[in-house]
Amino acid sequence: MLETLNALESEGLQALEALSASEELPVWYRGYLGRKGRLTDVLRGLGALSAEERPGAGRRANEVKEALETAFHSRQDHIREAELQASIAGGAVDVTLPGRPVAPGHLHLSTRTLRRVREIFAEMGFQVYDSPEVETDEYNFELLNIPAYHPARDMWDTFWINDKVVLRTHTSPGQIRCMRENHPHPIRVILPGKCYRYEQITPRSEHQFYQVEGLAVGHRIRLTDLIGTMQEFASKMYGAGRRMRIRGSYFPFTEPSVEVDMDCILCSGKGCRVCKHTGWLEVAGAGMVHPVVLRNGGYDPEVWSGFAFGMGVERPAMLMHGIDDIRLFYGNDLRFLHQF
Ligand code: PHE
Repeated sequence: MLETLNALESEGLQALEALSASEELPVWYRGYLGRKGRLTDVLRGLGALSAEERPGAGRRANEVKEALETAFHSRQDHIREAELQASIAGGAVDVTLPGRPVAPGHLHLSTRTLRRVREIFAEMGFQVYDSPEVETDEYNFELLNIPAYHPARDMWDTFWINDKVVLRTHTSPGQIRCMRENHPHPIRVILPGKCYRYEQITPRSEHQFYQVEGLAVGHRIRLTDLIGTMQEFASKMYGAGRRMRIRGSYFPFTEPSVEVDMDCILCSGKGCRVCKHTGWLEVAGAGMVHPVVLRNGGYDPEVWSGFAFGMGVERPAMLMHGIDDIRLFYGNDLRFLHQF
């Protein structure tokens, strides 16, 4: 047995040295070390040995196996290196060829839409206020007049980080941060940013999306200021002369609360599939800042008033570009992204 192993080892090493091309490597490997290779054959024979012979033969067999493996890998490296050098020397690699161009990227549709929204509000004197995406229960709900166990919490399916921290469900908590930072001065800001809701992902709803919040706080600010601002925004964003309407609604942090609609940009109010034959599209949830919220922000509601609104970003982009599935925004499919 030992002789067989010794012979196998020297034969194997010799055969390895004789190899010169990388295609021959797997053939050698199968022949010596593979499942049906010669060493495996020898190892199978170990069982037939006597109890005295077996340990010695087993040890030697392992040595041979390791020696062949090691030799194989160094031979493989050697052959590959030689082949690479030969191909460079033979001019197969033209190092003077220009590199493959990297396609320049461009802005994501959401980013472009957001930039347009910022631009329009900037023209009306609104600054941008950034506030965190990871919020406390206090800012996301409590200070916005939504106490724990208030049924209005059902309006926002929430990702909880722990029992005090959430991924913000809307941009409204930024209202409080902005007011606390700026009181007692007037405010005119938009708060654009990502929001998160624990929702089933469907063609119409994602669990992450952008909102743009708006907040104006000052003296004698009225609902008509809100409507005028929305009218101006809609005309700039969707085309001159949009017709607006407001409907009564409910949000805990505004009083009164409204939904702002505009005439459907596709059918101009005649009624179509997109506006579900109503002739109207929802633009924003909005209202006059609730006295409790003003107070939480550090403003005396007897002296100050304000309006706030919150609008989606993906939905209007979908309408404008005829996109029928919101999941495309985060699907990372370049065929989709390159179109905008
Ligand atoms: N935060 C509300 C929402 O996400 C929208 C809103 C903002 C309503 C500001 C009124 C005022 O549903």
